[in-house]
Amino acid sequence: MSRRKLVAGNWKMHGTSVDLAEVTAISIGAKTAGADVALCLPATLIERAVRSAPGFAIGGQDVHAAEKGAHTGCVSAAMLSDAGAKLTIVGHSERREAHGETDTEVKAKAEAGLAAGLDVILCVGETDAIREAGRAIETVSAQLDASLPGSISNAPSFSVAYEPIWAIGTGKVPSIEDIAEMHAALRGRLRNAFGNAGDSVRILYGGSVKASNAADIFGVSDVDGALVGGASLKAADFLPIVEAASLGSN
Ligand code: PGA
Repeated sequence: MSRRKLVAGNWKMHGTSVDLAEVTAISIGAKTAGADVALCLPATLIERAVRSAPGFAIGGQDVHAAEKGAHTGCVSAAMLSDAGAKLTIVGHSERREAHGETDTEVKAKAEAGLAAGLDVILCVGETDAIREAGRAIETVSAQLDASLPGSISNAPSFSVAYEPIWAIGTGKVPSIEDIAEMHAALRGRLRNAFGNAGDSVRILYGGSVKASNAADIFGVSDVDGALVGGASLKAADFLPIVEAASLGSN
């Protein structure tokens, strides 16, 4: 099954007006890419980024499950969409860990995003201790099962990102064999949940992806792209990763 790769940048809590030039540069580079490209930005930048880079996919980094209400500091799917966002991340480990988000909450966020017409990237991943204990596959599989939306009407609009927590921002990356084993396991869970449509869901790898390791990672079966943090902040770092995704195919 061939799936077009997706390379999504996650700017986390980085970026003010001066950084819009990078968004523009990335959007121009993405025009000729043989992969889908997106940038998930701080909410404060979304609308301006959409104006700076017409036609380029800008996303949020989180979304509230409710349509509206008394949720100070939160952003709804309709608000993201209204600002021009086309997608959102849900369940990033930095939210699961620092904000105590549960699988049930992440599932509700994924469903809210999809219901509002946003593409959704749902993150899962294990801690160092879980990997050391030899329980990474079972733990991440269970996390995925419990976080998945109940249904997906358009599989390509839904992606999963496997992000080992110990690989995020550390420069450490799992072995190619470990990535392959995890992605194959997650593909199996997606088929269980969604039948044939599970084959059309993209499974991204995330955690210290950079230009120097991207081609090897994209060469792994069932790796359908990347979620990139630090290396997505500058076009000079991010576009070579996009280029590697454009060349790599399953
Ligand atoms: P990193 O972050 O690429 O800086 O490791 C990835 C992520 O958290 O999505």
